Amino acid sequence: MSEKQRPNPLREGLSNRAVPQPCAIVIFGATGDLTHRKLVPALYNIAADGELPPAVAVIGFARRPKTDEEFRAEMEEATRKHSRQTVRDEIWDGFAQSLFYHQSEFADEAGYKKLAERLDQLDAESGTRGNRLFYFAASPEQFEIIVENLQKAGLNKSPNGGWARVILEKPFGTDLKSARHLNRVVQRSFSEDQTYRIDHFLGKETAQNILVLRFANAIFEPLWNARYIDHVQITAAETLGVENRAGYYEGAGALRDMVQNHLLQLLCLVGMEPPTDLGADSIRDEKVKVVRSLRRYKEDEVGTQVVRGQYGAGAIAGESVAAYREEKGVDPKSHTETFVALRLRVDNWRWADVPIYVRVGKRLPKSGTEISVHFKKAPQVLFNRESQAIDQNVLVIRIQPDEGISLRMQAKVPGTSFRIESVKMDFHYGTSFGKASPEAYERLLLDAMAGDATLFARRDEVEQAWAFIDTIHEAWAVKEGAPKLCSYPAGSWGPEEADELMARDGRAWRRL
Ligand code: BG6
Repeated sequence: MSEKQRPNPLREGLSNRAVPQPCAIVIFGATGDLTHRKLVPALYNIAADGELPPAVAVIGFARRPKTDEEFRAEMEEATRKHSRQTVRDEIWDGFAQSLFYHQSEFADEAGYKKLAERLDQLDAESGTRGNRLFYFAASPEQFEIIVENLQKAGLNKSPNGGWARVILEKPFGTDLKSARHLNRVVQRSFSEDQTYRIDHFLGKETAQNILVLRFANAIFEPLWNARYIDHVQITAAETLGVENRAGYYEGAGALRDMVQNHLLQLLCLVGMEPPTDLGADSIRDEKVKVVRSLRRYKEDEVGTQVVRGQYGAGAIAGESVAAYREEKGVDPKSHTETFVALRLRVDNWRWADVPIYVRVGKRLPKSGTEISVHFKKAPQVLFNRESQAIDQNVLVIRIQPDEGISLRMQAKVPGTSFRIESVKMDFHYGTSFGKASPEAYERLLLDAMAGDATLFARRDEVEQAWAFIDTIHEAWAVKEGAPKLCSYPAGSWGPEEADELMARDGRAWRRL
């Protein structure tokens, strides 16, 4: 090997991604669920893995009075409960010193002025270099007032050549109109480059691997089109019910909660064309084209192409569970869907006539998210003659749990007779790489600190996705003749109508 070809041993193993920079992270809604369950545990895990930039200060911004010490103790308890790795005292003690609490109402301008002073002080004391990441983990009705007050305090720009960025949690609007409004509000103060709309599914290891699978292997791309693919299925199943989120979920439902964002994002990764390079905008340019190519349903088509369901009482893993309408905070006459199955079409050359079936539901028998690509059958000659119909090849991308990829193919059963059966070639992240994948939030927080927006949704992606979803909501909202809300027992795979949606096309949902 020539000197030139030999890898630099000091760079080996280093990725070529942008480096996260020292910064202050201000979390609005610091006493909420997301901060406890995801954000602070994610930051701790980044610290434990030695990936946190040398100077990071985390400032919890919330209404209730609290000292830094009280906030640290609360975060310690939450992190011990929710962290991916066991919390080690020596690492926690160091990390806790970078946690601070800032008490203020979201609407109180003076609170932001004081925040600005505190951030300047932290720049001087901790070396956060004027870089600020504002994480909106509060409820969406508060976003507008927070953005306005950040601007009034001059915090939308950063002093001394640093940067200011906002991370916005979902739901990003409830329809196209509200999403546009929110985008306008945010962009009065922060440019698109400063805006990071989070979709935590994009931070999941296997979701990121879809692009590698497709574009770093020469064998898949030639087959990845209508000529070889019969159909695609995307399933996100959860055993959980609505938990204690009825206040939000009643107004959202499965279509807004999961399809508009997470499932359409997965569809984009599976369906997009190869980007010209790996830059954030090149990738997002290709993704948005997929959403734009989604065939819009006419009002009278929604009933045949989309099934909505709501769980009734049933059992999960042998335990009885209540019906959705009996859950705490749910209207006993609620029409909110907890399940939805859709038959989609992407109208472009690659996907012409390939149906894409998407289903998502709560209180299903098993939790799991996967994408399966079902290839066309081998021609009906040789082994595929009438008596021995053989299965299709199926490529399954398991997003969670047990992340990995498997390929179903045909093999001869050993023995003197000639029998053919399906076998699986299986790749498991856990065994191949021998280490657990980081949580989605870890990756996304690091990317935002590094200024890499690839795994965040751009304004046009979000708006296009709403434009598509709105057509379904509009058909559901008509006074007369709206498609019915089907029912399914908790612990089943959704309403029978979802199976019929597939059966009409001579297909069936894959068993998870
Ligand atoms: C959230 C939804 O965005 O994603 C929840 O609001 C859902 O309803 C959750 O349970 C699923 O995410 P994960 O990472 O647990 O699969």
